[in-house]
Amino acid sequence: MKTVKLNNGVDMPIEGFGVFQITDPRECEEAVTHALNAGYRLIDTASAYLNEEAVGKAIQKSGIQREELFITTKLWIQDYGYENAKKAFYTSLEKLGLDYIDLYLLHQPMSDYYGAYRALEELYEEGKIKAIGVCNFYPERLVDLCINAKIIPAVNQIECHPFFQRIEDMKTMEEFGVQIESWGPLAEGQKDIFNNPILKEIGDQYNKTVAQVILRWHVQRGVVIIPKSSKKERIEENFNIFDFELSENDMKTILDMDLGYSETIDHSSPDTAKWLNSYKIHD
Ligand SMILES: NC(=O)c1ccc[n+]([C@@H]2O[C@H](COP(=O)([O-])OP(=O)(O)OC[C@H]3O[C@@H](n4cnc5c(N)ncnc54)[C@H](OP(=O)(O)O)[C@@H]3O)[C@@H](O)[C@H]2O)c1
Repeated sequence: MKTVKLNNGVDMPIEGFGVFQITDPRECEEAVTHALNAGYRLIDTASAYLNEEAVGKAIQKSGIQREELFITTKLWIQDYGYENAKKAFYTSLEKLGLDYIDLYLLHQPMSDYYGAYRALEELYEEGKIKAIGVCNFYPERLVDLCINAKIIPAVNQIECHPFFQRIEDMKTMEEFGVQIESWGPLAEGQKDIFNNPILKEIGDQYNKTVAQVILRWHVQRGVVIIPKSSKKERIEENFNIFDFELSENDMKTILDMDLGYSETIDHSSPDTAKWLNSYKIHD
């Protein structure tokens, strides 16, 4: 598996498996098992996905050596602030059945995220987390955190796909040494992307599917990807992207698909802040 080197020297697989919206525990455990069997070693979950226990079960059942795995989970807004963050970290650790996390991320730039981030920094220094980072930080939030935090985040996990390519965001991340990781790498299937004629035509040249073209495009841009699927064949298909290379021309063609904004979520909207803050994952 190709890896990227994070700003603290940790190697992170360039492709992993995401489990957002796989809420049924049996389905989640099965999907992660398929992913591990297919060769994925990075699993991306979150306390807010309510499936850390199912992910943990699949990991334990796999018998794969802990050092071979790269497990990401995330802290939800409800648990922000220094004290709460520490408590929530240990809850996630227990649910996953692990004694350390490879990458622990702040899920949203909301509420007391500085307090929460200080807890992450301490847990990192204690060796409980191999790398710390954030999600959904737009450039101005990210730069502010990079300037003021003791430890620069290793990763920023943000929405990124052919319709929202984050070109300017990537420049800022590069400047501060923050690795971009794409959520929604397949645009969550929006705009009928799997039937997009431009991407289909590119795929036909290599005998690859639209999903494989998109995922390969990300990898060639140096973007870490964590596609989600509940279907075994698609899980395998999405991993089978390391035996071909898109041409410069293909890359340019996909560049033209960028809308430059998200059609999924508007982080600058007051309604988004209200909605995210109102989502509770425990009493
Ligand atoms: N940090 C954050 O705020 C945040 C937000 C969203 C997501 N994430 C993470 O990023 C991961 C990926 O994002 P995502 O799950 O939102 O979206 P995604 O991976 O872009 O797309 C998943 C959708 O595409 C379908 N799909 C997957 N592979 C396919 C294929 N080969 N052919 C056709 N359809 C295919 C899936 O359907 P089936 O399941 O039916 O195959 C599902 O509907 C998540 O699972 C989560 O770990 C993080």
